[in-house]
Formats: sequence, structure tokens, C-alpha cells
Amino acid sequence: TTPQTVLGLETSCDETAAAVVRLHADGTSEVLSSVIASQIAAHAPYGGVVPEIAARAHVEGVDGITAEAMSQAGVGYDALTGVAATAGPGLVGGVMVGLSFGKAVALARGLPLIAVNHLEGHAVSARLGAQVDYPFLLLLVSGGHCQLLEVEGVGACRRIGTTIDDAAGEAFDKIAKTLGLPYPGGPALEKLAEGGDAERFVLPRMLLGRKDCDFSFSGLKTAAARLAEGLTSDDERHDLAASVQTAIARQLAERSDRAMAAYAETHGGQELRFVVAGGVAANKSVRALLQQTAAKRGFSFTAPPMAFCTDNAAMIALAGAERLALGQADPLDAPARPRWPL
Ligand code: KG4
Ligand code: ZN
Repeated sequence: TTPQTVLGLETSCDETAAAVVRLHADGTSEVLSSVIASQIAAHAPYGGVVPEIAARAHVEGVDGITAEAMSQAGVGYDALTGVAATAGPGLVGGVMVGLSFGKAVALARGLPLIAVNHLEGHAVSARLGAQVDYPFLLLLVSGGHCQLLEVEGVGACRRIGTTIDDAAGEAFDKIAKTLGLPYPGGPALEKLAEGGDAERFVLPRMLLGRKDCDFSFSGLKTAAARLAEGLTSDDERHDLAASVQTAIARQLAERSDRAMAAYAETHGGQELRFVVAGGVAANKSVRALLQQTAAKRGFSFTAPPMAFCTDNAAMIALAGAERLALGQADPLDAPARPRWPL
């Protein structure tokens, strides 16, 4: 039954986030509020996310962030039809905070709980800003994941490619570190790449020509680290950043191109849709190259609005709302799952 008005909670990494999303009967959705408290400043001195610091910050923040999301949405708890919380995968200490909080709200208000897979949140995120119908081919590129998925509906994904070593965001982060950039490295590297010459440094084209849809970034990482040691000028730093960004974007586009060719064969006669989601989808070079690739293959192209690329609770609320509309909910003892493949 719709409409669904769902409170979403996201605490699986280093953002404490709460949002209220309304899903209408025609499949369109409205983000009534989306509040994100970033912990970047708390983790920056350590060069990465410290799980214990993250969990403590979620404990301190989740109550206030939720109150803020409810107040900005301008609805009371009695207007909600469900509570959705990320139940994994992620840093389990943080996941437990948001999931327990969600269970408490559900129990106190007599609302159904939906235990959402964080990746499923990213998978539906493009539907927050635009009308993207199922099915679609999805490239999910975040700090922890790099996968190509056929998405038939909420909870109905088939994986057709994954990384054999690092995730794309992880590659951005690690290479940024060797360039002396602060955490999180992806956005910092994109900034450094501005105006740089992307063809200055030759980097390995990983897996080129391989007949599957998998990814690999470790060779690129090693090559970039070696080049970073030999840099002698600021210009060269800009050029190396641009070269790395282009190399990552090219691999994402090449592997997606293969996936699109295969997808088109199994979805003959249907409308072909390509979606990119996850933190790396915020990168403008990555977006541009994927958009070109999709256009060449006759696919429509959708990326979530920038604010919904990186971790947020609106995508969790929408995944929960879509599940609720299908009559699905989870028991109040749903477990927190550090690992939970789609
Ligand atoms: O989806 P997300 O917020 O968290 C995970 O679920 O992992 O993704 C975070 C990742 C980080 O690796 C970050 O460096 C990368 O996304 N990222 C970017 C950009 N913005 C975030 N990478 C490249 N360019 C960006 N503009
Ligand atoms: Zn994420």
C-alpha cells in the first residue's frame, strides 16, 4: 500500500544520517528531509575511518540528527508508516547503533521495521531524484564496493561483475594518500586533477580485453605510488592526479561497456537503462565518461543528485519504503551484519 512515509537511518560508516522520504503510488518519491552529520573532522587526523571513534560519534549524534530530520520534514511520528535502518554491510559497531535506535523507534511507535542492506540503498538512490523504472543495469562504485548489477526491483539484484582487489573509491583514497592529500581522498584528488594533463603519465590499463565484467585497481595503485615518488613540481602533481582519475574512469567505462553489451542481448526489445551510484558517482570525469559510453550503447544514463551519491539516509528510507509497499518488513531482532552481499 502507498503512499509510504518512512524514517531512514544510516550509520554504517562515518556519516550519521537520518531522513524522511515519501513514496507515492506511482513510484515517484519526495525527500521530505535529509540530514547528514559528517565525522570527517574526527577521523582526519588518523588518515581514515577509526571504527571505535565512528561508533561513539553515532551514539552521540543519532538522537539529535533524527529529531532534526523529523522537524525539517514537518511531519509527526504519527504520519510515519515505517522505520528503515541500515543493517549492514559496514562497520558493525556503527551499524548496531542506527539499527538499535531504529528498532526502539519502531517498537515505541508501533511501526514496522525494515532492515536495509546499505548496497540496496545505493542501488535505489538514483530513483530519489528522477523517475528511473526497473529494470536497470547498475554500476555501484563506493569506498567499499565496485560491482555491476542487474537490478530487476528492490531486493532483486544479480551481480555480473565485481572487483578482484580494491574498490574504486578505495583506489581513489589510497592513491590520494600517496599524493599527500587528506582523507577522504576521492574529492581531494578530483580537485587536484583540475586543469591537469590526463595524458601526461602512462598508467596500466588493467583487465583490458578480458571477457568478463570484473575490475582491478591494485596495479594502477602500485604504478601511481611509484610515479608519485618521482614528482618534482606542482604541475606534475596536477598531471598525475588527472592521469589517475582518467585511468579509473576509463576502466569503469570499459567494464560497463562490456556489461551493457551483454545486458542488451538479454533485454532485447526493452528500454535500456544504465545507472551509476555510490560515492565515486560524485566524480565529474567518471560521470562524463560513463554517460558517453551509455549513449553509444543506446542506454539512458542516470546518476543520483550529488548529495545522494555519498552515504545518506534518504536512500535507506526509499529502499525501506519500496519494501514496505511490497508488504515486506523485518522482525525486531533482525541482526546487524558486518558482511552482507547483495
Ligand atoms: O558511498 P560512499 O559515501 O561510502 C561507502 O559506502 O563506501 O563512498 C565513499 C567513497 C570514498 O572512497 C570517497 O573517496 C569516494 O567515495 N568519493 C569520490 C568522490 N566523492 C567521494 N571519489 C572520487 N571523486 C569524488 N568526487
Ligand atoms: Zn555507501
